[in-house]
Amino acid sequence: MAKLSIRDLELQGKRVFLRVDFNVPIEGGQVVEAWRVEAALPTIRYALDRGARVVLASHLGRPKGKRDPKYSLQPVARKLAELLGRDVPLAPDCIGAEVIALVNRLAEGQVLLLENLRFHPGEERNDPEFARQLALLADLYVNDAFGAAHRAHASIEGITRFVRIAAAGFLMERELEYLGRLLTEPERPFVVILGGAKVSDKILVIENLLARADAVLIGGAMAYTFLRARGEEVGASRVESDQLELARKLMTEAETRSVAFHLPVDHVVLERVDGEAQVRVVRTEEFPDEAVGMDIGPETTQLFAARIARARTVFWNGPLGVFEQPPFDRGTVAIARALAECSGVTVVGGGDSLAAVRQAGVAGQITHLSTGGGATLEFLAGIELPGVRALTEKG
Ligand code: 3PG
Repeated sequence: MAKLSIRDLELQGKRVFLRVDFNVPIEGGQVVEAWRVEAALPTIRYALDRGARVVLASHLGRPKGKRDPKYSLQPVARKLAELLGRDVPLAPDCIGAEVIALVNRLAEGQVLLLENLRFHPGEERNDPEFARQLALLADLYVNDAFGAAHRAHASIEGITRFVRIAAAGFLMERELEYLGRLLTEPERPFVVILGGAKVSDKILVIENLLARADAVLIGGAMAYTFLRARGEEVGASRVESDQLELARKLMTEAETRSVAFHLPVDHVVLERVDGEAQVRVVRTEEFPDEAVGMDIGPETTQLFAARIARARTVFWNGPLGVFEQPPFDRGTVAIARALAECSGVTVVGGGDSLAAVRQAGVAGQITHLSTGGGATLEFLAGIELPGVRALTEKG
């Protein structure tokens, strides 16, 4: 069932409570990666252009229900002001008489950012009284925080019980459209690339996508767990020994479903030779005892890239090597480039994969960059997200 959209609302003069996900990395009082803020701009601009009085609400980090200046949204207010080219005042809090007064003083086409929702324990507890107090700031509620939609928190779920309608913003709609399509009608061949450290983080996603994909390509540290489960030697690489049984089960399932399940055939490894760290490329069958796998090798990169080139739909999550440590970023960056060259629909999710796409300078050539981390994985695992369920249905 389609959800109500901000497009369906009459915004002029209304106080629009807009839940956004401005949970962005901050260093030295500066936003160091603004892509989540940028992703919310279309909705913010749309509401401002239509004369709404926009009240932005977000969490930042995990301050555990207490006010902590380290987690203030002040740097985000500055960044947003720069991006919007207008003032973005920061309220001293997100509820209470002073905040209500500030919101009521907003003129049409003006914006106010509330201070971190998680300074109050009621946010994460989904406390009805806290949700009710947030709702006092809203004539209309719009949720554009896809990245936080897997959290049944007060500003995401509870608040919708105190407002007449809860609509999706443009980013929320776009995420649901592109991620939803992966689950319902992916154009074939549909190729899934998964990397990252742990199989255990991605079990449900792998299971759910195995039922839909034509090929699954595995890289990153979790490839070593799968290789070990297949009986290969992986030297001193990180293996989740408690996941070996499950890894075997997933590979058997892929076979039963005739899904091509590709593990790396070669590796860039780090080895100690005479006390010196050496980097070299080895094939899986000649994996040295003491070596640690750091990246997919050049042959694997080519094989994966060839699969991606033939795909009509691609989903990628998780780096294929120790991406933050050059030269072990090569496989990941090459895969980002392969996605950029693919003429099908390409969807990328997860912080490291997005960083790789940017590092490769190809962000503009990817069909959809998902802003969710956990939310994207839960959605693709087939779990209904509380923040999506809470939105008003159309019609
Ligand atoms: C995220 O960064 O994935 C979301 O903003 C949710 O943050 P959380 O994991 O702290 O709830």
